[in-house]
Amino acid sequence: MSAKPSQTQRIGVLSTGMYVPPKVLTNKDLERMVDTSDDWITSRTGIKERHIAEPGTATSDLALPAAEEALKRAGIAPKDLDLLITATTTPDMLFPSVSCLVQQKLGATSAACFDISAACSGSIYAIITAQQFLQGGRYRNALVVGAEVLSSFVDWTDRTTCVLFGDGAGACVLGPVSRGGIIGTDMGSDGTQSGLLFMPGGGSKYPPSYQSVDQRLHYLQMSGSDLFKVAVRRMADSAKRVIEQAGLKVDDVKLVIPHQANIRIVEAVAKFADLPMEKVFVNLDKYGNTSAASNLIALHEAAQTGAIKPGDRVVLVAFGAGLTWGSVLLEWS
Ligand code: ACO
Repeated sequence: MSAKPSQTQRIGVLSTGMYVPPKVLTNKDLERMVDTSDDWITSRTGIKERHIAEPGTATSDLALPAAEEALKRAGIAPKDLDLLITATTTPDMLFPSVSCLVQQKLGATSAACFDISAACSGSIYAIITAQQFLQGGRYRNALVVGAEVLSSFVDWTDRTTCVLFGDGAGACVLGPVSRGGIIGTDMGSDGTQSGLLFMPGGGSKYPPSYQSVDQRLHYLQMSGSDLFKVAVRRMADSAKRVIEQAGLKVDDVKLVIPHQANIRIVEAVAKFADLPMEKVFVNLDKYGNTSAASNLIALHEAAQTGAIKPGDRVVLVAFGAGLTWGSVLLEWS
């Protein structure tokens, strides 16, 4: 908080962490719950299984171990954390923020805490937001968490949505780096298409009532095929833009880590962005779509498995409800 202001400070990812709840729900399990098949889910989405939180588990419960791992790897004690931003679509409650609840569990007593609501693009928005606070020297370090318990908001009788989502959390610590770090960012939104993916109930428009429950307003609602087309175009354009604006070419990028929604979306993004699939990180087969947690879980796995090494250029790109999209171009340090 008291770091010296500097307009040119480079900010990078110092560490990552992740946590998924132990319970695994396979496509075969889903066959027993709704009229679907492993074959349909695999061929239409690439998802084989997802992790599901036990009833009563809150988003902050998943966020905490991911946050602790990232802080430990960065060698930062919770009390020395300056800023905590959580991206989530599924907060424990409308208020206080998940960030404040995680702050209390961590003992991060000095941190300023708030949440970001940008659905599946949330962790990208949160990284870019943290970068703004850090590069001017207002704060010395920031913890960004993406965490979701989507299973609490999925209609488990609706086969068109319940097969897609999973629960989990990813985290990263951001701070000053001497070289590399974040070298490009891109963000955009289109509120005119907010009706493609939304959860109407529980807010000020439709507060909880017997009627809202009867009308199933407390579950997420989605126009899957319309979203699919926009997701591909927006993610491909955003990834291309962030690379071009940094004066680079696709060949200069080692790995693209897209939001893990659906393998067909990922493959189409790769095609539109002229990216060979060898350069695209995929782990959605194990986790499904974990919304704001997705890019951070994937970044953690890419770093831990050696898929990215110091000096590699990496693009994180996401798309989600809002509609929202965004990219971060990093030189891994
Ligand atoms: N099992 C079996 N059949 C199913 C299932 C299921 N789980 N779900 C739908 N079907 C049926 C439909 O009822 C339909 O049957 P019909 O032809 O008799 O009417 C048929 O399969 C085809 O349905 P479509 O919706 O056209 O299937 P599509 O190929 O578009 O795939 C999907 C659906 C997977 C949802 C796809 O549109 C998609 O992935 N969209 C993106 C959605 C997404 O990822 N949203 C997350 C948030 S946004 C983001 O993260 C990018």
